[in-house]
Amino acid sequence: MCGIAGYIGDRNAPEILFDMLKRLEYRGYDSAGIACISDQGVTVFKDKGKVDEVRGKVDCEKILSKTGIAHTRWATHGEPSEYNAHPHSDCTGRFIVAHNGIIENYKDLRAGLTGRGHKFESETDTEVIPHLIEELYTESFEAAFREALKKLRGSFAIVAISTLEPDKILIARKDSPLIVGLGNGENFIASDTPAILPNTKKILILDDFDYGVVTKNSVAIKDIQTGDELKKKVQTIQWNIKQAEKEGYPHFMLKEIFEEPEAVKNAIKALKGVEDIAKKLTRYKRIYFVACGTASYAGLMGKYLLERFSIPSDAVSASEFRYSTINTIDSDCAIIAVSQSGETADTIASVKKAKDKGAYILSIVNVLGSTLTRISDDNIYTYSGPEIAVASTKAYLGQMTSITVLGLYLAREFGKIDGDYVNEIIDDISNLPGKIQQILSNEDEIKELARKLSDKDIFFYIGRRLNYPTALEGALKIKEISYVHAEAYPAGELKHGPLALLEKGVPVVAINPNDDLLEKMDSNIQEARARNAIILVVGENGDLKTPMIDPLLSPILYVVPLHLFAYYISVFKGLDPDKPRNLAKSVTVE
Ligand code: G6P
Repeated sequence: MCGIAGYIGDRNAPEILFDMLKRLEYRGYDSAGIACISDQGVTVFKDKGKVDEVRGKVDCEKILSKTGIAHTRWATHGEPSEYNAHPHSDCTGRFIVAHNGIIENYKDLRAGLTGRGHKFESETDTEVIPHLIEELYTESFEAAFREALKKLRGSFAIVAISTLEPDKILIARKDSPLIVGLGNGENFIASDTPAILPNTKKILILDDFDYGVVTKNSVAIKDIQTGDELKKKVQTIQWNIKQAEKEGYPHFMLKEIFEEPEAVKNAIKALKGVEDIAKKLTRYKRIYFVACGTASYAGLMGKYLLERFSIPSDAVSASEFRYSTINTIDSDCAIIAVSQSGETADTIASVKKAKDKGAYILSIVNVLGSTLTRISDDNIYTYSGPEIAVASTKAYLGQMTSITVLGLYLAREFGKIDGDYVNEIIDDISNLPGKIQQILSNEDEIKELARKLSDKDIFFYIGRRLNYPTALEGALKIKEISYVHAEAYPAGELKHGPLALLEKGVPVVAINPNDDLLEKMDSNIQEARARNAIILVVGENGDLKTPMIDPLLSPILYVVPLHLFAYYISVFKGLDPDKPRNLAKSVTVE
């Protein structure tokens, strides 16, 4: 949700900043901009459009600057346009700011500043920041910046420069991620690690209420309230640059689908501590899975898995949990937060509130060092590697693998499942990557099916129990990247409404594992077939064929053809599956 970047060093700042923005584009791509300081003063260039479109209008080499800030936007306040694009300046053009987050009290601040003669050029909440700095400036950029920060309510990651002190970039964070990449004689600032990977793996992570002063040779992180300098541990990013490149694939999404076998392998490798965590979880009366988007379906699968072993649990969307379910949370509850990025605003807010009420917090997360990992009691990392496409795929498989193993250990701790059976299934999990590979080698068949159905304007997905979340995930993927209406229903619900919409030629995707409900699913499929719907069965003998698998593991396997299918529907529609309209990968606002 908006990506911000900063560079200070000896190289051409505009080039580096646009490169960094390109790697942050998954966070938003409706407009982009840079502001660089040079001998000629400050050059601000911004416009509507994706990073490459905006970059194409700038002659970077002509801007002889070694210090600058940049922004790629996902609009919250004000439509995507040149004037709403960041960076934003004060009235005098001396203070320039790029921001990710939402300044909740911007209306009051703006009214006050307007009353004092400030002129605003955009509809954004962000623009109050440079004007506040202007208003509070006496003789120190840093002092004015810090005083301005104290007046802001809401969430922010900020980079700011000033023509008055061109040798530094000021930065700050509250509830929106921000890191500093440490180079030799140069430093980088970014919302997320992929942006700095080509240049350094050494990073400092800012915490909420931190601000910082970054020069080419130094980084000082300080406390907004006291101004005292804070000691921060230098961390090393584990990812490599190749992992964040397309490596010959036409889209990140396809590359990431083809990394699904690896995602399962990595999740298993990292599961050493899970037995201890499962023991801890037995102390709690109720377990809640809390997450957003695709991660919430992994959580829902977890709920069905635990219920399979009579362990009370629930799965709630974080945006609902934080305002409703939270009223029922106490120290007898355990929260399992699931998130690829570890930065999703609603998930983080839910966890913070639950923690305040004494709940135990376990997070299942991909990104090391992310906010969620730092506020949880325990973390299980999925180690899926960087996921760049906006629509989550491989991270989902990592999450489901971790949740499945955790669920099985928990069931064993509660004495609900035989230990040998658990070992057998864990063995089966290690065969999953090979089985996923088998599905991926049928890419051409799945592609052909997608080609045939790419002109459909509605899809239904049905499943039961553990695979109801698979149906939800299949439908979400179609919606997200193809802009086609897709509905997922528990198969038994079909006759309570959606059946009325079924007519000749409407595709119904039925997730049909070989389990004790196979016949029930078959009946539901017949009900749809009788209305002349096009039926696509996912299963051992299905149209989207899957290898034999223990039904408990079927959600991890059965989603793979659905990911590929959705990808190709989007491609056949001529869309960009990596960058769906109106969406962003890391949703750091409410
Ligand atoms: C956005 C993304 C989804 C993702 C969801 C949750 O909506 O587009 O792909 O599943 O956020 O993100 P998280 O990082 O918390 O898993």
